[in-house]
Amino acid sequence: MTIGIGLLGLGTVGAGVAAILASPEGRHPLVAELELRRVAVRDLSRPRPLQLAAELLSTSPEAVVDDPAVEIVVEVMGGLEPARSLILRAIAAGKPVVTANKAVIARFGEEIAAAAAAKGVYVLIEAAVGGGIPIIEPLKQSLGGNRIQRVSGIINGTTNYILSRMADEGAAYADVLADAQRLGYAEADPAADVQGGDAADKIAILAGLAYGGPVPRAGIATEGIDRLDARDVAYAAQLGFVVKLVATAERLGSGAPAPGEPISLDVRVHPTLLPKQHPLAGVHGVNNAILVEGDPVGQVMFYGPGAGAGPTASAVVADILNIAGIRQVGGSEAGLDPLLAASSWRQCELVDGSSSRHRNYVRLHTRDEAGVIGRIGSCFGAAGVSIQSIVQFEARDGEAEAEASSAEGSAEGSAGAKAEIVVITHEVQEDQFRQALAAIANLSDVTKVAACLRTL
Ligand code: NAP
Ligand code: HSE
Repeated sequence: MTIGIGLLGLGTVGAGVAAILASPEGRHPLVAELELRRVAVRDLSRPRPLQLAAELLSTSPEAVVDDPAVEIVVEVMGGLEPARSLILRAIAAGKPVVTANKAVIARFGEEIAAAAAAKGVYVLIEAAVGGGIPIIEPLKQSLGGNRIQRVSGIINGTTNYILSRMADEGAAYADVLADAQRLGYAEADPAADVQGGDAADKIAILAGLAYGGPVPRAGIATEGIDRLDARDVAYAAQLGFVVKLVATAERLGSGAPAPGEPISLDVRVHPTLLPKQHPLAGVHGVNNAILVEGDPVGQVMFYGPGAGAGPTASAVVADILNIAGIRQVGGSEAGLDPLLAASSWRQCELVDGSSSRHRNYVRLHTRDEAGVIGRIGSCFGAAGVSIQSIVQFEARDGEAEAEASSAEGSAEGSAGAKAEIVVITHEVQEDQFRQALAAIANLSDVTKVAACLRTL
């Protein structure tokens, strides 16, 4: 018995899904049971990579959701509205939903899960995080016996593609971003990728699953790669590090939280220096990787293509097959499987991270004079921050030169003498590091704290 699929969107992901449904040979036999019955697009005249019968296409996504021939709604149109309303409309009609839309799930996941539970329908989201990497179902099911300590990873393909090509080829940021858009990796508005918002949506979803309760999306500290200086990528490489956009969710404390107490989490997204031997450092191009650390499993890493038509469609179709399989054995009359449906069993609260401990990379513009490094070292020492390495590079551009020569009190004969000093600290508590940095910024030798990046 065939199962009717309604597709909302026929862009990168939608076309990838339609292509799988159109060629079931060699795949799981259930794929052949899935029939594309209606497809919503914005522009009927737009050329498509695959030919669909004209009567399948509609510019009304509501009509697709409401069509009685559509039994499973697949939302791959993106954006917040009307996507959220369409998902709720499908649920209200008793239709299960598959979506790749992390922006909607990170913000409205609680509302959608409650509506789905009330109606007894599944809303599955495997494609929302990690593209083709199975990570949502493993977190919900295979790792359910663990206490999760940390989930961290590279979960935006566009920025990893950009950073990899900048590091490997010295490619220009704008050119590589244009390539990522052409390849279908970037969001409709790529600001979500390069400013870190897409990764923040995804870590909110992963943390919600790992820790058992919704994570307030708006509270996630987020910094993208759009203000990253190529010089820091180059200096990091010279010092044995690679720079990646890393998203992390970490619980504070180690034992089991008291019953009924919220769990405290530090959740953040920012460019991070990784030692070259770190498991995430070797993740290149559009690939993503997610490292899950739990008790008793230890470290498990999930790796694969994080964006693009084929990988994302692979995850979407897996969700459709899960739902189709349940229907084949008699539907969900007995209630929803709590390991497949989104379930929430506690509150998560975000902490500000000032007590988190990590290494740091700092680049300073300074005057090039005797004693400067000593004075910087004293500021770190006074705040209890231990230095792992301190390296002086020659200032190479007009910015540092101008700052150095115009610095107040610049001594006769030393005007124009300038340096770039890069410091890597040992692991230290964030607030101690900030205290040291404030003192350093006040030194008359220091013209600018030019960059400051977390380091694993
Ligand atoms: P896309 O290429 O921009 O495609 C969006 C599709 O939705 C287009 O076919 C568009 O129609 C249609 N659409 C948009 N608004 C519509 C409306 N109001 N009414 C009817 N049709 C509408 O986007 P995408 O890259 O496939 O991404 C889709 C979703 O998957 C997003 O939530 C994205 O975050 C997520 N996702 C994407 C990837 C990826 O690698 N691209 C990976 C994982 C998750 P037209 O074609 O006529 O413009
Ligand atoms: N724009 C997203 C990325 C798509 O680059 O990771 C996959 O979610």
